Amino acid sequence: MKKIVVFLSGRGSNFQAIADAIDGGEIRGARIAAVISDRPDAPGLLEAKRRGIPAHSVPRAPGMGRRQHEQALLAHLDPLEPDLICLAGYMRVLSSEFVSAYRGRILNIHPSLLPKFPGLDAQRQALEAGEWVTGCTVHFVDEGVDSGPIVLQRSVPILPGDDAGTLAARILKEEHRAYPEAIRKVLDGLENH
Ligand code: GRF
Repeated sequence: MKKIVVFLSGRGSNFQAIADAIDGGEIRGARIAAVISDRPDAPGLLEAKRRGIPAHSVPRAPGMGRRQHEQALLAHLDPLEPDLICLAGYMRVLSSEFVSAYRGRILNIHPSLLPKFPGLDAQRQALEAGEWVTGCTVHFVDEGVDSGPIVLQRSVPILPGDDAGTLAARILKEEHRAYPEAIRKVLDGLENH
């Protein structure tokens, strides 16, 4: 059984899509070993508990440096020996030490067709650039912001009258299909090594 750990900071709809894909047999031979959030009030943590998945809140307390915070994350993470860490709306950038400890085993999902529109407000960035097509990208995490090797991308049309909200909702639907598919692809790759 491959072990997935999900990192999130908020709503957790991508986490739910991954959990549903596992429950529905779309991702075989894997389970979510834990959900970890830097935000104690993240709705995704409650949803994890509801599903009986271990849920850990690891807030970055005032005065706590990034290194210290990551040590606290690793204290939960390392004992689980995860095969894959899935960032799903996790709003912090991981340090290069963290990334190199788990290189090739951290995925992220981003609501644009990278390398276009990395960073915050990707949907608004696409609208403001006058694009007609945008989408989502699942990629391996490296030291940069939304910059690692791409696993898969799905495009989504931008329609007349869209605002950041309507566009984000259309992209999110595609994210919920793309993330499980990317995980399956990566886990199959791990299997063949
Ligand atoms: C998604 O749009 C994802 O692409 C971005 O953050 C959002 C998280 O949404 N990285 P959710 O918490 O999974 O619902």
